[in-house]
Parts: sequence; C-alpha cells; structure tokens
Amino acid sequence: MKPVKIIDTTFRDAHQSLMATRMRVSDMLPICEQMDRIGFFAMEVWGGATFDVCIRYLAEDPWQRLNLLREHLPNTKLLMLVRGQNIVGYRHYADDVVKEFIKLARKHGIDIFRVFDALNDIRNMEKAIKIAKDIGAEVQGAISYTTSPVHTIEKFVEFAIELEEMGCDYICIKDMAGLISPQASYALVKALKQAVKIPIDLHTHCTSGMGPISYYSAVQADVDIIDTAISIFAGGSSQPALENLVVSLKDTPYDTKLNLQKIIDVGYHFLQMKQKYAKYISPIAEMTDASVAVHQIPGGMLSNLHAQLKEQNALDKYQQVLEETPRVREDLGYPPLVTPTSQIVGIQAVMNVLAGKRYTQISKEVKDYCLGLYGKPPAPIKPDILKMIIGDEKPMTRRPADLLKPELAARKIEAEKLGILRKGTEQEDLVTYTLFPQIAVKFLKGECKAEKIEPLITTEELHDNLEEQKIAAIAVALNEHLTDNGKFIQISKTTDKQVSGWKIKARQENIQ
Ligand code: CO
Repeated sequence: MKPVKIIDTTFRDAHQSLMATRMRVSDMLPICEQMDRIGFFAMEVWGGATFDVCIRYLAEDPWQRLNLLREHLPNTKLLMLVRGQNIVGYRHYADDVVKEFIKLARKHGIDIFRVFDALNDIRNMEKAIKIAKDIGAEVQGAISYTTSPVHTIEKFVEFAIELEEMGCDYICIKDMAGLISPQASYALVKALKQAVKIPIDLHTHCTSGMGPISYYSAVQADVDIIDTAISIFAGGSSQPALENLVVSLKDTPYDTKLNLQKIIDVGYHFLQMKQKYAKYISPIAEMTDASVAVHQIPGGMLSNLHAQLKEQNALDKYQQVLEETPRVREDLGYPPLVTPTSQIVGIQAVMNVLAGKRYTQISKEVKDYCLGLYGKPPAPIKPDILKMIIGDEKPMTRRPADLLKPELAARKIEAEKLGILRKGTEQEDLVTYTLFPQIAVKFLKGECKAEKIEPLITTEELHDNLEEQKIAAIAVALNEHLTDNGKFIQISKTTDKQVSGWKIKARQENIQ
C-alpha cells in the first residue's frame, strides 16, 4: 500500500487560475479548521500572484495573511511558490532581497518553498533553494514542464538530479499550462523515480482536459504527491478536483485515505464563496481548451494574441500569428510558454507578421532575452536570428543576478524618507516596498482601498438556478422513464416564481 499524498492548492493556484487571485483571507479563515482536519500533505497558500494582488487590489497585508493562515492551520504544512530569483515579482531581484524574503516567509510560517524558473536555469533558483535549506525549511525543486524537441525525458532527469544534489527535498513537475499527457506523465515519473531518491510531486492544470487522466497515470508510475483543488475551485485552468481523485483511487494500493465526507462538507463553504466572486470568474478560464493540445499555445496566450491584434486592427492576421508563434519559439531555443517568455515570444510573433518581414522590428524583451538577461535558453538561439537581434553584442554567460547590486540598503533609505516602515513590521514593509516600489507606497501608507466585490448573481437567483437544475434533472429522468414506456414529456419555463421557475409539462397537462 502506498497512499498518494495530496497538496491542496485552493488558497493559491486555484483562485489565481480561475478568478484573478481575488480570494480574501477573511473568506479563507472560516473554513481553515475543517481544511486542517482533512489530512493534506501540505496546502499551497502563498506566493505566485497572491502577494502582488494583496497589496494592489485587496488592501491586505500579505505577511499578515500568512500569519493568520499559520495560526488557523496549525496541523498542515504550508507551501509557497517562489519564482526563483523573481521571488513573487516579475524581474530578477538582488540576492540580498531573496535572502531576506525567504527568511521572513519562513518566520511567518512557510514550511515548504516550491522554487522554479521559467527557463529551468538552475542559476536563477540556487539562491532561493540554498537560503531556504540553510534556515531549516523544506524545498521543492520544480521543473517547468513544456514540450519541444529539446525538452526530453533525459534533460528533465538531468535537471532533477542537479536539484537533488543542490539539497532539494522533493522534485515537483510543474506543468503550468496543462500540457502533460497521460503517456508523458507516466514516462517522466517513472524515469524520475529511477534517477532520484527524493519524492516526486506532479502539479498540472486542467486547461487541455488531460489533467485527471495524467494524474491517474502518474499514480500508476508511483508518483508520491499530486496537487489538487477542492472541486468548486477545480477544473478549467485550475487543478484537477480532489474529490474525484479520492474516489478514483479508493480501495486501490494508492488510496489517499482521505475522508470524502469531510471534503464534501468544505465544498459547501466554497460554493457560497465562489458566488460572491462571480464577476472575476472568466468563463474562458473554466473551459477546457483543446487548442493547447492542437498547437501548443496555452489559452491565456491565445487571448493575449487575439487582444493585441484587435488593438492593431489586424484580426485577419490571427491565423498567421498562430503559425508564426511556434517558429519564433523554435528560433529562440524553445523557451516554455509561460510568463514572461510567453509574452516575449508572442509579441515578437505579432511584430514579425505585422511588419511583413521577420525580425525587422524587435522588442526590448526579446533583445534582453537574447542577451541572456533572463537566463540560459533551453537550446541555443539560432545563430542567424541571434545576429539579427543583438548584432555584435555578446550574450552574457554569467548568472543574471550577478549583475545586480544589493538593493535593500538603498531601499531602506528611500522608505525611511517616505515614512512607510510601520513600527513592528519594518523588515516586512521594507521587503514589500523593495519588491513593488510603485504600489507599495500607497499600500503601506494605508491609502489603498480594498476593491469592492459586486456579485453577478444574488443569492435568490442562485437558488432559482439550483432549482432549475434540479427540475431539469428530474425531467430528464422522467423523460427517460416515459420514453421507455412510449410516452413523452416536455419542460418549460414559467413566471411562477413562488413554486419554481420551471414546470414539468407532463404534470401540468396530467399526462400519465
Ligand atoms: Co500551477
């Protein structure tokens, strides 16, 4: 018997993927006690976009959020996502910032740091990993998963071995675009299990629809941990749902041993909470997007490309851009298409198509990428393309963050002048300010107002909807029954709200 362990992502990745990271801590706390009793291996609750969104839109102190979650989840390990040298931001920060951030996150309650880099450049991860290990935390070294001729199982295995040697406690296969197929997940997990001794965690999204099947095959290959979300916040561009998985693995050697009733009980809380945030939930994010499986461009990127072309009045070029995107990706050494490389590749593809000639116009980001400022591309950039983009300049071969001078001391002087370091949380405030100088000032001065949440649907309407669904289900069942007996019924909508929005015609017309 080898129970599969579960990491719950509901408080981080799930709402980041489905509703722009808007879940407030005040909506998390009432359900923490029940979540804490489920028996998750860990809960991912912090990092990624949560930090930025807290101070930008929610007027919520991210450090305080972490304190509260730690206090209300005393029995569950807390995990955070760290974007390597980008920490929780969008550029490389100097090593002193990485060090202070990790130390503080640990102090406020993080047990496991999941560290990744979009290019799988270990130099962008090593600082975060080493600091976390030095202060006694656990580390998941993450492999950013993508598909390309150079992203082979052998390469992923080599990378995993490096991560293990660096002291990581787990390997996480981080499939942020939901690209991993059932065959690939089986083969990769099997290969990793043979090559490294530390446990393997598979993290995927349902974007392409393959997620649950890929989890099942990873389980067959003896994966140790998988990442899921509570069903109400699962599916679409979020993680696969926990409940189905618990049922699917029940009474198998991989049985999660989690109590389904306890999980279903927390589901009711999330159902009500989700209604509250309806205006942030993108219908596209909840859909299965088969296009990823067809042309390997993740859904979020497709909508970006579409928006860019619309802005330029060039929607007729959409198909050409879709064809150009994989070519640019190939030219640039097959970077995985995630932030920030998805934007770098996408913008250049649009420029190439609109200019009518490739690489006559070049974005600053593409140039920086070619100069090595983001890290080492997975494969060499095509030499003729590189020449067109950077001319005679030489790409940097050192670790990108080596170019950065320590930042905290100078930021401290600025912050003191601005009077934004609050008593008792000076270090946390300094790090917040260093990470996001533009938005942190307003936040730290207490001038940031929490965005108002206006529900799209009232509770009354929700009940009507549920009623409609129930009636429709009964009608279908009845219809089946009557059809079998050679009779038919119809359902129709009425205005009689007292009883229900729907009436079964069969009953109305007394058809037996
Ligand atoms: Co994810």
